[in-house]
Amino acid sequence: MKDSTSIGMNRTGSHMSPFDTDEMTDATATPSAPRTPGDDSALTRIRSAYTADADPVGSVPVPGTVKGAVTTGVSMVTGNNPQLLIDKLGERLAFERTGARLYDALIAKLDGLQESASSMTREDLEQIRDDEARHFSIVKSAIESIGGDPTAQTPCADVTGVESMGLVQVVTDPRTSLAQSLHAILIAEMTDNAGWELLITLAEDNGRHAMVSDFTAALNEERSHLMRVRKWFEEAILGTSVTAGTIDEVGTPAPLH
Ligand SMILES: [Fe+2]
Ligand SMILES: [Fe+2]
Repeated sequence: MKDSTSIGMNRTGSHMSPFDTDEMTDATATPSAPRTPGDDSALTRIRSAYTADADPVGSVPVPGTVKGAVTTGVSMVTGNNPQLLIDKLGERLAFERTGARLYDALIAKLDGLQESASSMTREDLEQIRDDEARHFSIVKSAIESIGGDPTAQTPCADVTGVESMGLVQVVTDPRTSLAQSLHAILIAEMTDNAGWELLITLAEDNGRHAMVSDFTAALNEERSHLMRVRKWFEEAILGTSVTAGTIDEVGTPAPLH
């Protein structure tokens, strides 16, 4: 089994070379030492200038069907914000798809390691993976129900795709341990929970009662995912099974020490 905390020949710290480190520190402390002109304020100014001039990340697609156009128009008249709902539905769609892929990768990792320091089983992961795929379908149907195109990438879908790239990289990296992979999955599940909560609020604001009902069921499953992943992560990092009493009813784990 991979041990994420094994001692090895790590040479990344400056303490590996005290002589060179002292020389470097002395050089920066000497007033007469050659210095590179400028500081990071120029970088900040350039970033700010680009931000002021930049276009937004994409645009929210207008529903292409007559039904969608009418629905959007009505919502606009009533003062709701259907664009925001469509944008966030696109985000959830993208993230739930990534969620299923993350669990596919975690299943492969578990198979590869052939043993686990946590009580997590392949069947547990397959069940959550199927939940994520079903959540994807729920969001797809919700987008279609308001005449939207689920194949369109909304701005927030684009952003969340970039955000989650790191998580996929961690779990699919053959060198990462189960504990390191579960930490990435934990980030995904926390984001999942917050995402569904916001989506329920937006659906309520837009009077989409069927969505509120479907999304609430999904949120309840996400809460269960989060509680289980926290437990497995804690077990994997400590190398022991965590007893039921270690995690309270709302899923808040006890301190690791
Ligand atoms: Fe999910
Ligand atoms: Fe989840």
